[in-house]
Amino acid sequence: MPSLRGLVESIVETALAIIYTATAGLTQNSTNGASQLGTLTAPRLPPFLTDNPLPDGFPWGKLTDTGNNPYRECPHTGVVRRYEFTVSRGFIAPDGYLRDVLLVNGAYPGPLIEANWGDTIVVKVHNNITGPEEGTAIHWHGFLQHDTPWEDGAPGISQCPVTPKRSYSYEFKASLYGTSWYHAHYSAQYTGGVLGPIVVHGPTHEKYDIDVGPIMLSDWYHKEYFDIIEAMLAPNGSPRVVSDNNLINGKMNFDCSTVAPGDKTPCTSNAGISKFKFQTGKTHRLRLINSGGDGVQRFSIDEHTLTVIAEDFVPVKPYNTTVVTLGVGQRADVLVAANAGSATSSFWMRSNLTSCSPAKQPNAVAAVYYDKADEAMTPTSRAWNVPDPGNCANDDLATTEPLYPIALPPPSFTQSMAIETFKNASNVTLWKFNGVSMRTDYNNPVLLLANEGNFTYPREWNVVNYYSNSSVRIVVENRGPVAHPMHLHGHNFYILHEGPGAWDGTIVRPSNPRRRDVYLVRGNGHLAIQFDGAPGIWAFHCHIAWHASGGFLSTLIVRPDKVERMRIPPDVQKNCRDWDLWSRHNVVDQIDSGT
Ligand SMILES: *[C@@H]1O[C@H](CO)[C@@H](O)[C@H](O)[C@H]1NC(C)=O
Ligand SMILES: *[C@@H]1O[C@H](CO)[C@@H](O)[C@H](O)[C@H]1NC(C)=O
Ligand SMILES: *[C@@H]1O[C@H](CO)[C@@H](O)[C@H](O)[C@H]1NC(C)=O
Ligand SMILES: *[C@@H]1O[C@H](CO)[C@@H](O)[C@H](O)[C@H]1NC(C)=O
Ligand SMILES: *[C@@H]1O[C@H](CO)[C@@H](O)[C@H](O)[C@H]1NC(C)=O
Ligand SMILES: *[C@@H]1O[C@H](CO)[C@@H](O)[C@H](O)[C@H]1NC(C)=O
Ligand SMILES: *[C@@H]1O[C@H](CO)[C@@H](O)[C@H](O)[C@H]1NC(C)=O
Repeated sequence: MPSLRGLVESIVETALAIIYTATAGLTQNSTNGASQLGTLTAPRLPPFLTDNPLPDGFPWGKLTDTGNNPYRECPHTGVVRRYEFTVSRGFIAPDGYLRDVLLVNGAYPGPLIEANWGDTIVVKVHNNITGPEEGTAIHWHGFLQHDTPWEDGAPGISQCPVTPKRSYSYEFKASLYGTSWYHAHYSAQYTGGVLGPIVVHGPTHEKYDIDVGPIMLSDWYHKEYFDIIEAMLAPNGSPRVVSDNNLINGKMNFDCSTVAPGDKTPCTSNAGISKFKFQTGKTHRLRLINSGGDGVQRFSIDEHTLTVIAEDFVPVKPYNTTVVTLGVGQRADVLVAANAGSATSSFWMRSNLTSCSPAKQPNAVAAVYYDKADEAMTPTSRAWNVPDPGNCANDDLATTEPLYPIALPPPSFTQSMAIETFKNASNVTLWKFNGVSMRTDYNNPVLLLANEGNFTYPREWNVVNYYSNSSVRIVVENRGPVAHPMHLHGHNFYILHEGPGAWDGTIVRPSNPRRRDVYLVRGNGHLAIQFDGAPGIWAFHCHIAWHASGGFLSTLIVRPDKVERMRIPPDVQKNCRDWDLWSRHNVVDQIDSGT
């Protein structure tokens, strides 16, 4: 008789053999709809789009990543990049388990937005969500929106939701460059599929040969987002949401034998994984994006060193590593030299959800093939031995430094904001940030009220007004055991310090602190940040979709005097009139914070 341990090992091995295979059992259309990401036909990207005027040979002229302050100097190319997005319901099986999803132009992940630094991006979003109908709003993650805060895509904060069967045209400038993504900011809708990559080409002093394009890393859930938050926000429901799988560019296999008995959903165990072609001896640029709902990713490629050159929209002094840690919303641009084998070699690319992320199947893989490798082959490479440190934190703050140095200015105001959970009178577990569990009012965006001179709001909108403060320091105090990726809209903030317990006032490299638009605060720890406030209304929140749904969001007003004087385009008001009319005759099932 086999020992129990032997039996368990053989079951685990069979399961691994099922999910670690490069043979695809489903077509690309059935796993990802119209998306080509993760296939060998996905286009490589050029260093910049060449239909721009090219003063001094580049769309951005003489500006460089080392010599110019990206917040002060931005090229004005006059070029407009136009996109049309239709958001609809659909059925796909990214990991082989068929589910109802929300798709942008029939694709998951949605289409790539590509522009040069200094271009204007226009995206006309059609809300085609039917059966049932539902609002939507799209956030362009990391974009500053300094002259256009009404295009930031946060419903109840910067706009009303886009009404079903109507459209709204977002128009904003690509004032920073690098890698990012867009995603719905309406409830936890983006985890259902409303997301896609953005690449803004800009100067880089680092040499590479091939731009492989976006690599989206995302935990994946088999249930629809609305059902997940409904269960989470039920009396005595659990705030802990467990993901079913982990995807690279929307793909991964799933062991269908683990589906609950009685679940008759169609499921194919070898749906197909993402594949990448590397040119032997050449250096490749990979644009990593954590586009998940919750999980912290640790990305690596077997036997290859990664050179990190940008974090979020911030170019950094290059550093070498074998693993990059990304919380939800964070990005990293890495260079990888294909020099770890011969032209017929193949390797596993891996992205592991950390121990801090509740997950049934945390380990995503994709296959990397050198030029002459057989693309049907299953790689046999060995993983780096770099154990998860288990602290649920980003890689050490001192590891890297922004390429363009900016010294930390003295703050004009400092405040603490605590993270807590509590049970409300219906026994629903919710999050409190800075003392309030946020709930938005879709019909009354704060930005429009502020623009009309109204600065008096219900407490549950969790608004903080910073009046004429120029630089605000916020010490996030995490009073619970769970880590959170903190995201501030409209800014790259300075990261002063992050660690366990309370902050002792230490600042890492005040001459040039790290800057990002998302940073992890560990469980029972602190995160000290500071930002040079740009006039507008900006969400500051946990980027875990489930936590934001549970109220973990605050709304910051910066320079209200200037907000009052902004000339907001009439389309923003019209979008609200459409929504007001629709919501008068239709039930808006807002069971969560709304964001
Ligand atoms: C709108 O959604 C419906 C139902 O999901 C779908 O059949 C139709 O193709 C969509 N229309 C467009 C233009 O995408
Ligand atoms: C990173 O490693 C490569 C070799 O893989 C080396 O050429 C380069 O100098 C290293 N860069 C840094 C910043 O250490
Ligand atoms: C990812 O998970 C695999 C499988 O458990 C493991 O072999 C590998 O070391 C992990 N990699 C990292 C970077 O944590
Ligand atoms: C508790 O929170 C849930 C979810 O936000 C909400 O639906 C319910 O009305 C709240 N109960 C009370 C008594 O406020
Ligand atoms: C909340 O839960 C407690 C303990 O489980 C129970 O005694 C109480 O009746 C519940 N209250 C409501 C409003 O459900
Ligand atoms: C400001 O807006 C809030 C929320 O809509 C409303 O309750 C309040 O009456 C408004 N105040 C003024 C002075 O209009
Ligand atoms: C800075 O913001 C705080 C918090 O709202 C406020 O109390 C203070 O008056 C503001 N200072 C200035 C100079 O506006």
